[in-house]
Amino acid sequence: MKRRDFLKTIGVGAIAAPVVASLLSSCDSSVIAPGDSPAITISNGTMSLGAGLSSTAILTNGAFLGPTIRARSGENISIKFQNDLSEISNIHWHGLTVPAGMDGHPMDAVAAGASFTYSFDVVDRPGTYWYHAHPDMLTAKQAYMGHAGFFLIGSAEEDALGLPTGPNDVPLLLQDKRLDAGGQMLYAPARFDKITGWLGNDMVVNGKKNATQSVAQELYRLRLLNGSNARVFKVGFADGRMFHLIANDGGLLDVPVQVDHVFLSSGERADILVSFESDAIGASPVLKTLPFPFVSDHQNDNYPQGAEYDLMTFTVDKPKTNTYTVPAALLPYERLDVANAVGTKYFQLTMDHDATYGMHRINNLAFEMHRKDFTIKLGELEVWEFENQGDSIHNMHVHGTQFQIVERNFNVSNLTPTDRGWKDTVILWPSESVKILVRFNKYKGLYLLHCHNLEHEDDGMMVNVDVV
Ligand code: C2O
Ligand code: CU
Ligand code: CU
Repeated sequence: MKRRDFLKTIGVGAIAAPVVASLLSSCDSSVIAPGDSPAITISNGTMSLGAGLSSTAILTNGAFLGPTIRARSGENISIKFQNDLSEISNIHWHGLTVPAGMDGHPMDAVAAGASFTYSFDVVDRPGTYWYHAHPDMLTAKQAYMGHAGFFLIGSAEEDALGLPTGPNDVPLLLQDKRLDAGGQMLYAPARFDKITGWLGNDMVVNGKKNATQSVAQELYRLRLLNGSNARVFKVGFADGRMFHLIANDGGLLDVPVQVDHVFLSSGERADILVSFESDAIGASPVLKTLPFPFVSDHQNDNYPQGAEYDLMTFTVDKPKTNTYTVPAALLPYERLDVANAVGTKYFQLTMDHDATYGMHRINNLAFEMHRKDFTIKLGELEVWEFENQGDSIHNMHVHGTQFQIVERNFNVSNLTPTDRGWKDTVILWPSESVKILVRFNKYKGLYLLHCHNLEHEDDGMMVNVDVV
């Protein structure tokens, strides 16, 4: 019997206490609302991923996973970060356009016991962003142990669309963990784990295993975030129901796109509108990661990419009392045009099997903190071409701006729904090429380009881009 089946059986049969925790209560208790001047303190502690499970973890303000920060576009945010770990840490605002000195570059790590106040204007489009640890070679471990949370941006334009809000707006942080029998989160990547990334067979949503969410027979906005280190999720429902994709990494799309699944690599977000209006009271639709084929020399047979798992269960237990509908149109966005690009950069994603550090490389470079690897002029549009020359998955992430994806394998028709709109992270399957359009509009300084497989990132698959 596999570990997860064992735990499930115990949870349902032998233990009387509910095995699940309400996601809404865990989210609501830790919301930082617009106008608050919050503090984020991280420390070592213990927590539980569900009934009977207990684990050491990084706690944020005493809880597992950071508070959901709800900001308004145009607002100035000021957050005091206190590092009560016994090692360096920091906060990176993933997807947000912030000054280089506020971006959580590893050279700006905050010492153990020290604090730093992050302060920036919220300039990005309404949508779902997040924050997580980013210290040199410790990002993967700290994010996995809990130093991560949502950063949501709202705006008046978004309000005017009448999208589901309040209890019908549900952020879902999706992660896989490797747990021992008592529920301790394990993190000890060996060489092969650094090649595949650290994967687990225990699916955790907002910090709970076997999570459930009570819903009414209404339309919901689910904000999906792949907060895992290395796992790719193919998110869909067990019953195959369709839903509408309304936002990717960089906020709302121009129109909703009807789909029955979305692929999310680590770091990517997708906001979806899901209807429970046709579900009977008492129904319990299951959100899953659906199976997909992944054939690679770099496949971990014990923790395979592409395996099927339940993520969480919705329990439909309340009749409809509101009138949310899927809008016909969302928010228009500027379309970048290749014809306006003034330069092209090529990035080869390769593997050096002999290296102890830097097995995964970008143009044969492994990360060095202060080396300026690439330069781009503020305001200039460039084509960046990524070529994945190996048979690992690499999901490339750019700090400090959002980009647009032009082609996948030299063909626009290969683009997927989650390639639309503004993006900050793009998946490259083995042997794929992807062309993107990039422009830094707002701030000069040193930003990062890296693979968001966090073991690859910590292994040096990261370069500095100097915006001048
Ligand atoms: Cu979400 Cu540099 O990372
Ligand atoms: Cu980022
Ligand atoms: Cu990678």
